[in-house]
Amino acid sequence: MSTFPLALFVGGGLDACAAPAVAVRLIAAGYEVQVVLTDAARQLLTPAAFRLAGIEPVDTVPAGIPIILCPADEAVGLRLETLPSLGRVAGLGQASAAFPAFAREDVLLAARWLCSPRLLADRTILITAGPTAEDIDPVRFLTNRSTGRMGIALATVAACLGARVILVHGPLALRCPPMPGLETIPVRGAREMHAAVHGRVHECDAAILCAAVADFTPRDTAGQKLKKTGLDELTLPLVRTPDILASLGALSPRPYLVGFAAETHDLERYAQDKLERKNCDLICANDVAAADSGFAVPTNRITIFRRNQPPIPLPLLDKEEAAARILELVAQAL
Ligand code: C5P
Repeated sequence: MSTFPLALFVGGGLDACAAPAVAVRLIAAGYEVQVVLTDAARQLLTPAAFRLAGIEPVDTVPAGIPIILCPADEAVGLRLETLPSLGRVAGLGQASAAFPAFAREDVLLAARWLCSPRLLADRTILITAGPTAEDIDPVRFLTNRSTGRMGIALATVAACLGARVILVHGPLALRCPPMPGLETIPVRGAREMHAAVHGRVHECDAAILCAAVADFTPRDTAGQKLKKTGLDELTLPLVRTPDILASLGALSPRPYLVGFAAETHDLERYAQDKLERKNCDLICANDVAAADSGFAVPTNRITIFRRNQPPIPLPLLDKEEAAARILELVAQAL
């Protein structure tokens, strides 16, 4: 990743003591960090706390540099007013009318939001993520190994690129970080996901369907817990779920449409077939048989299939970087 300059303005609140660790995380992620201590911060921390991490606090920063306030408090706000020209600002902790806030644990997301070109400004993108849960009875359900990580990466990176994002997601194994521009709609089953998607798709320029939607759901959901008494075997009738991606492909007009294909074999043949059959613009295919790609790992090796153009094989990337590559293609196409 290329290095981006960032300024970290340290305020006087309780979280000031976390600032050296925050700076270290940013540097480790490749950012070039300049630290400014307010008077209030100097009551709590000395510059030596930063020197240990190889950072020498400064008094002024270049005009227009993106700024993270840690924590976002009044003292830092006052300090900002002394700057001649202000770049983008994000706060850690409290939100303010002047800038959006991110949780401290989401500092790398805040940095990405500050440094990303707004390639998707004025665009609305619908994203589906996670598994679905198909209820058998009040306590049991059918699901799969999807954690939602790829869909969360797509949603957060799209919001960093300036899009308004509507994320419709099944039960996630991971936390989806709140951030400006990102709206989340939690659902459980495939039918509910289908309804939520169709309720909002008319607002969207593009839809990226990343959810691992169950193909089958129990024909009936029992109102009471099923009992095993007297049964040696149980047969559960299943029925097909609606294909959400294909249903969007059939709309006219339809949004720019991106689907995913998780395959264990014959990746290319299935992906090309899906592109035609579901009437999509892009299919992102990943080999879920590989240990470092697909479900429940932080990395993916994706090949992007397009209509009448050669496929684009991406290298093994972490899911945020893979999301950024896919979204660049979407931005170009819109
Ligand atoms: O046909 P297959 O399930 O392999 O297609 C995968 C793609 O279709 C993914 O983009 C997935 O999100 C989407 N899909 C869907 N609704 C379904 C099944 C799959 O939107 N019921």
